[in-house]
Amino acid sequence: MSNSDFSHEEKYTKIGPLDMPLLEGVSRIEREAFADEGLGPGNLALLARCGSVFALTNAGSVTAEAIVIAELGGAKALLLSLAVDARLRGRGRGKRLLMEILAHISAAGFKQIELTVAPDNKAAISLYVDRLGFVIRERLTDHFGPGHHRLLLEKQLS
Ligand SMILES: CC(C)(COP(=O)(O)OP(=O)(O)OC[C@H]1O[C@@H](n2cnc3c(N)ncnc32)[C@H](O)[C@@H]1OP(=O)(O)O)[C@@H](O)C(=O)NCCC(=O)NCCS
Repeated sequence: MSNSDFSHEEKYTKIGPLDMPLLEGVSRIEREAFADEGLGPGNLALLARCGSVFALTNAGSVTAEAIVIAELGGAKALLLSLAVDARLRGRGRGKRLLMEILAHISAAGFKQIELTVAPDNKAAISLYVDRLGFVIRERLTDHFGPGHHRLLLEKQLS
């Protein structure tokens, strides 16, 4: 399938902490993408309270998800997670979801967003750097344990 198959009718939504059906959909994508490190519905409910859980949905099913947290009173947001249903990748959803989030948090007053990514995650790095203008700020050696390096990326919001 090509990019033209992507449906722009999918709904961008911020999920509330009590919306268990959608949080379970987010958790399914988390675990598919990140295995044991994928978040369960309980932790997602907490994150929906103290941060923001965003999704694209199609007829009530989650097709892409992202989590944003921020320091109390700060102007910097952290993208904690971003993943697209594995069957639906490469058709614009990751880019659309992140663009919606950048506009949303910029309108909410945040001035900067940062994230970390594995140095070998070519798809994600291309999305962040080539398509959405993030810059690589620093290489974080052993950040997730010995041999598990990360790149710290950031983007200024207007
Ligand atoms: C990274 C991810 C969210 C991208 O979402 P997606 O819907 O597949 O990506 P999109 O179709 O929106 O593509 C947007 C851009 O990302 C990059 N990209 C996406 N898939 C790619 C691939 N397989 N190889 C290289 N670049 C790729 C391209 O720059 C693409 O722009 P283009 O279509 O104009 O070339 C998705 O691949 C995913 O869920 N991966 C697993 C979880 C993950 O690694 N999350 C990031 C954690 S930091």
